[in-house]
Amino acid sequence: MGGFGMNPPISNIYDALAPYYREYARKKTVYLNAVDRFILDNMPGDAESLLDVGAGDGVRGMALANQKGIKYVVLSDLSAEMAARCRELNPADVWHAAAEKLPEVERRFDIIICLWNVLGHIENRAGRVEALTGMRRLLSDKGNIFFDVNNRHNTSAYGWWKVFGRICIDTIQPDEKRGDATFDWKIGNESIPAMGHLFTPAEIEGIIKDSGLLIKTKIAVDYHNGLLSTQLLKGQLLYQLVKSEK
Ligand SMILES: C[S@@+](CC[C@H](N)C(=O)[O-])C[C@H]1O[C@@H](n2cnc3c(N)ncnc32)[C@H](O)[C@@H]1O
Repeated sequence: MGGFGMNPPISNIYDALAPYYREYARKKTVYLNAVDRFILDNMPGDAESLLDVGAGDGVRGMALANQKGIKYVVLSDLSAEMAARCRELNPADVWHAAAEKLPEVERRFDIIICLWNVLGHIENRAGRVEALTGMRRLLSDKGNIFFDVNNRHNTSAYGWWKVFGRICIDTIQPDEKRGDATFDWKIGNESIPAMGHLFTPAEIEGIIKDSGLLIKTKIAVDYHNGLLSTQLLKGQLLYQLVKSEK
């Protein structure tokens, strides 16, 4: 099963965070801008449509689309408060939906983004595979998916010794639940119990494979200074995926 114990549902947490979300994101600009730069540099120039899964308030997805002149944008989020904020931006559509249960629609998207550890908010491995499988279903044949997740084997965040220890234990006795982290989130004057899953590179790449997707590019992004590295132990994990090699 996996899961995060007795915490409130993640949608409640993001409903509460919604009024403070912009301010919160602004504090992480260095990391978020580095991820966005990579996406803009690697996005095909002829993309016409973009779906943002776990869009938050939608500001980021709309900005990425605008910078590439993409007119058809759909924003999707589990939190009702976040979806309401997305609607204010007037995209082509807003889906109030879980990433694991993306709607059955005719439209296929050239770009699908799922940014800032949205997959790490999904309860367990089966749900994460469902989410990526759903994105694959909605992807056009020439389409690209971009997503980033937190890295349990991130030496910039945890130091070499701790990561070395984690790699040893994860190799000898693999257990994905070890990546489930609970913490208190300071939101306004409140402290709300929250949770997120940290992935190992091997774990997320197993999920990608089981979802029928192929890795086009993978890179680590340092959470503090935004530096990119091909050594996956050096930051959070950012992937560009396609449906097939052609
Ligand atoms: C850290 S925020 C990232 C928002 C946006 N992608 C960005 O980069 O600004 C995570 C978002 O994922 C949404 N979320 C969490 N679990 C989800 C799920 N199972 N399906 C869809 N959205 C989810 C939350 O409501 C929240 O808006």
